[in-house]
Amino acid sequence: MGFLDFFLVTCRVLHVFSVAAWIGGLGFLGGVAGPVFRHFGERGEEIAAHIERRFVGFVWTVAWGAGVSGLLLMLMSDKFLWLDYSTPWRWFLLGKQIIFLCMIAASLVISASLKEAAPLTSTTAPEGDLSDVERLRWRVTLLQRLNIMLGIAALILAACMQ
Ligand code: HEM
Repeated sequence: MGFLDFFLVTCRVLHVFSVAAWIGGLGFLGGVAGPVFRHFGERGEEIAAHIERRFVGFVWTVAWGAGVSGLLLMLMSDKFLWLDYSTPWRWFLLGKQIIFLCMIAASLVISASLKEAAPLTSTTAPEGDLSDVERLRWRVTLLQRLNIMLGIAALILAACMQ
């Protein structure tokens, strides 16, 4: 195996690992950790919020991994040609890039909402307006679900590219 082949395999592994960690992390957070912690009331709600805020840093790491490896795979592929959409492969790739940007935009809004909610949900500062907290929680949950659906759509497009 030459260096270029090795580099290509490394990019594919990094790409698949990054997207699996991103979508898997979102699924675990929304489907397992969040509901379990919230079951334990106010204290659980605060712990769930801490985990979500910590998850934001993790998301940026895997998003960089997925984006950079995807870009390298794209540039190394002989199926890719700048600004040419004459094959289904290139349309699927464009679709995946748009989805990726939407997921990044949603993550930015999630990150800003969690920062805004932090002083309101803290038990050491319980004077926060409940309707504000609920509005922010609703927004974060909705965007996290949207990101899972977008991630699945990107996976389907990736399968179509094979
Ligand atoms: C959340 C977004 C994304 C998901 C879920 C995703 C998922 C995948 C998966 C599962 C593969 C198959 C890997 C393999 O067969 O070894 C793949 C391949 C690929 N991805 Fe992505 N990807 C995403 C974003 C991107 C982005 C942003 C780019 C480009 C900038 C990109 C470019 C590529 C390329 C060029 C390939 C190789 C396709 C081929 O071999 O024909 N991906 N992607």
